Amino acid sequence: MFENFMAWIDKRLPVTDAWNKHVGQYPAPKNFNFWYFFGSLAMLVLVNQILTGIWLTMNYEPSGDGAFASIEYIMRDVDYGWLLRYMHSTGASAFFVVVYLHMFRGLIYGSYQKPRELLWIFGMLIFLVLMAEAFMGYLLPWGNMSYWGAQVIISLFSAVPVVGEELATWIKGDYVISGATLNRFFALHVVALPLVLVVLVFLHILALHEVGSNNPEGTDIKKPKGSVKEEDKSKFEFHKHYTDKYDIVDAIPFHPYYSVKDIMGVAGFLILFCWVMFFYPEGGGYFIEAPNFEPANGLKTPENIVPVWYFGPFYTILRVVPDKLLGTITMFAAIAMLFALPWFDRSTVKSFRYRSKLHLFNIIQFAISFIVLGILGTMAASDLANLIGRIASLGYFGFFISLWFYSKNEKTKPVPERMTK
Ligand code: HEM
Repeated sequence: MFENFMAWIDKRLPVTDAWNKHVGQYPAPKNFNFWYFFGSLAMLVLVNQILTGIWLTMNYEPSGDGAFASIEYIMRDVDYGWLLRYMHSTGASAFFVVVYLHMFRGLIYGSYQKPRELLWIFGMLIFLVLMAEAFMGYLLPWGNMSYWGAQVIISLFSAVPVVGEELATWIKGDYVISGATLNRFFALHVVALPLVLVVLVFLHILALHEVGSNNPEGTDIKKPKGSVKEEDKSKFEFHKHYTDKYDIVDAIPFHPYYSVKDIMGVAGFLILFCWVMFFYPEGGGYFIEAPNFEPANGLKTPENIVPVWYFGPFYTILRVVPDKLLGTITMFAAIAMLFALPWFDRSTVKSFRYRSKLHLFNIIQFAISFIVLGILGTMAASDLANLIGRIASLGYFGFFISLWFYSKNEKTKPVPERMTK
């Protein structure tokens, strides 16, 4: 009966073919490791955010007068409201942990290089929208840090020459941050941006499947048609979309091999996630900051206005530049650098495993600089913090600029034709 039903559907919409092309007969390199868990985990967290978000919306009130109280109501009176809220707020932090690790994987294995530039750009667009989504979501509880955090970030736009002040007022929908601001942030946070995110993730996967997955060795599993001896080809059945154009080596079908492996990643992730969510939902003040337990108050500035941890690196870059406009430009430049990474790297060797010691050193110093910037971003500003922040910012930008210089004639090791590890 099921087969008849599927045949009926397939005649009208090629569901089985799409499943085979993207899941059941998708050729995935056979050497995916730990780092390859984070793509599927990012999807899991996205689904978690959307579902818990929908249920939170059922009891949340998007108004200056009612927002804070409605969150208290969700936490205390709505059945399992506390669980929904903590799944969502801890989920936001988990999203960034997963996405940062996912991006770092791309960085060390050169997954952004040709022919995966567009895939990387879609990833970066996702990252940008995700930051906007998190920023707007943080205003919604209408706590004091929500209010002042939004105040600081929106006021950056007033640094734009000539139209700055008008631009900031236009974004707020008022002369100060008010219920009008809350309403528009709510609309964007629950409808517009999630839609954009889902569409971008869809395109991200389509772009990935068009060019195929990279892997920790950085070798190509797709060889020119007819160039591989029959006994060397992968023995599995892959979709004709791939085998018509290429000979496939060192690959296994995504399902069941990686679908099962990803479930292991999900289990490990959920153990960690539940542990944090049930025992440390505020993340020691890093996930939900202390001033947010007080309602928004335009007359009472929190002692230190600092963002949630995941904005830390970019906030520090903004803060260590003495001029507001220059700081804002530098912060956006830090993100633009990431967008342009495929063009900063002029090497044809992808994985760090076959690249120079200099490249490995550069990746390590970049990671350290990024973490230091992140830590500073959650701390109060001081002269010493500014100095360290400036050095770490040099490390951040230095990564891209030095990469452009040394990658052209870098001393790399020969990359094997076939996978060795
Ligand atoms: C909601 C956020 C995201 C989701 C759901 C997502 C999903 C995925 C999935 C399922 C894969 C295939 C499995 C894997 O390689 O892990 C993948 C691959 C990839 N993603 Fe993402 N991604 C997200 C964000 C990003 C971001 C922010 C970037 C970078 C700017 C990025 C860059 C990449 C790259 C380069 C690959 C190919 C990796 C390789 O083949 O080695 N992704 N993504």
